[in-house]
Amino acid sequence: MLSAARILSIDQGTTNTKALLVDARGAVLARASRPMTVQCPRPGWIQQDAGAIWQAVQAVMDECLEAAGGAPPAAIAVSNQRESVIVWNRKTGEPCGPCVIWQCRRTAPFCAELRQRGLEPAIRRKTGLGIDPLFSASKAAWLIDQLPDGRAMAEGGELCMGTVDSWLLWNLTKGAVHACDTTNASRTQLMELGRLAWDDELLEWFGVPRAVLPAIQPSSGVFGTTAGAGRCGDGVPICGVIGDSHAALFAHAAFRPRATKATYGTGSSLMRATEGPVSSSHGLSATVAWSAGGPAQYGIEGNITLSGGTMQWTGELLGLGDPAADLAGMAAGKDDSGGVYLVPAMAGLGAPYWRDDARGLITGLTRGTTAGHLARAALESIAFQVRDVFDAMTLDTGEEPEMLLADGGASRNDQLMQFQADILGRPVVRNLSLDLSAMGAAWLAGLAAGVWKGIGDLEQLPRQEQRFEPQMSEADRQRLYAGWRDAVARTLGDFK
Ligand code: G3P
Repeated sequence: MLSAARILSIDQGTTNTKALLVDARGAVLARASRPMTVQCPRPGWIQQDAGAIWQAVQAVMDECLEAAGGAPPAAIAVSNQRESVIVWNRKTGEPCGPCVIWQCRRTAPFCAELRQRGLEPAIRRKTGLGIDPLFSASKAAWLIDQLPDGRAMAEGGELCMGTVDSWLLWNLTKGAVHACDTTNASRTQLMELGRLAWDDELLEWFGVPRAVLPAIQPSSGVFGTTAGAGRCGDGVPICGVIGDSHAALFAHAAFRPRATKATYGTGSSLMRATEGPVSSSHGLSATVAWSAGGPAQYGIEGNITLSGGTMQWTGELLGLGDPAADLAGMAAGKDDSGGVYLVPAMAGLGAPYWRDDARGLITGLTRGTTAGHLARAALESIAFQVRDVFDAMTLDTGEEPEMLLADGGASRNDQLMQFQADILGRPVVRNLSLDLSAMGAAWLAGLAAGVWKGIGDLEQLPRQEQRFEPQMSEADRQRLYAGWRDAVARTLGDFK
C-alpha cells in the first residue's frame, strides 16, 4: 500500500546524493545521504561515474524509506546537478563513458571555435546562454565523438543522451522513459527558450544528433512510474523533476518576479523569476525557472564560479588543518579586511564578467596585513561577487529586489550573511533548511500528485528563516565596494 501524501525526494548533487521523505505539512520524516567522488583525469577535466550516481540514488532511496517504516511513497521527486551529461546505450542501458560534469572545461577549445565562427549572438538569442563549456551541448558532442562509431550510433538511435535527471528517470523506470524537465533542458544550450523545444540549428552547430535527445516535459507532472526500483518497487509515479538551483528558488516560495535567491555553495547561483525570457545585457543568463502547469515560468540567473569554495582554497593556502572551518574562525576575529581584497578568479570569473582567462588576485597588502585580514578578505569576496550579480540583475530587469533570500552551505556563516546585508544595503533572509533543493522538487511533485492544490498552499507551509538587517553606513558601503571594483578591474586588466 502506498503511504498517502508522502513524497520521496532525491537531490542528486556533485558532492552528495540525498533523499528526503516529506509529508503533506512539508515536514521531513526521514533523510539519507551518500558522499560522491569526482575524478580529474587531466587538468580541467572533471567527471563522475554514471553507474555510481545511480547506485548512490538507489541506496539513499532505500535507506530513507527503511528509516520511515519501509512503505513506498505516494510520489517521487528529483532535483539534480545541472548541465552534467551522460551518454548511454539505448539497448543495454550501459553508460558509454563518464558523466562529464558541469565544472569540466574539456570542451573549451571547441567552444572557442564556435565563438570564432561568430555564432555567439545567435546562440545567446535562442538559448539565453553565452557559449561556455559549462553547458551540456559541447560535452554531449564530446561524449559521442570519443566513441568509435559514436556518430553513426547516435544518428541511428542506438545512443541516449541526457542530463542527470534524464539518467535517473531512465533507471527508475527501467528504460521506459527517456525524458528531462524544462529547467534541465534550458541549461543544455540545445533548447530554444521561447518554444521549449530542441532546435535544429543548435543541434547542427554543436554536432548533437536529434535521435539521442530526451523528451522535454514540465517540471511538475507525471514523467513515468517506477519499475523494480528497490523498496519503491513498481508503479510509484515520478512527478516532480527540476534542476537543483531552480528547485531552491521554488522552495524559497520565490514565486513572484523580484524575489531573488542566492545559493552559497562552492560556487553560487543567483536566480529570480521574470515575466518572460529576459535578454541580458549585463552578463546573465535567461532560463526556465520552473514549469508547473500552464505556461513556463522564466527566470534570470548569474553563476559565480568560486564563492564558498574560496574559504577552502584560502585555508589550504595558509596550511590550515580544517581549511574552510579554520579560516572562518580566523575571519570571525576581524571586523574588516584591513584594505585587503581577494578576487577569487582561480578558475576564471563567471557572471557577470565571463572571463575564462582571468586569474586570482590579492591586493592591498601592507606590513600590517595579517592572515586574519586575508581570511576576512576571502569571506568578503563571496559577498562582493553576489553584489556584482545582484546589481546586474537589477540593471537587466529594471527592478531592485527588497531583499536577498539565501541558502546553501556557506550561508550558515553569520558573519558572511551580515556582511552580505551590509554590502547590498538590503536585508538578507537565510533559509535554515539544508535541504532546500530536495524540498523544491517535493513541492513540484506534490502539486502534480494533488498533495497541494497550488502555490497558495505552498506559501502556507512553514519555512524556518533568519533575517539579517544592513547595519553599515552608506559611506562605508560605497568605499568598500569601490575598492572591490578596483581589484576586479586590476584582475581583468592584467589579462586583457
Ligand atoms: O549548475 C551546477 C549546479 O547545479 C551544481 O549543483 O549542488 O551539485 O553543486 P551542486
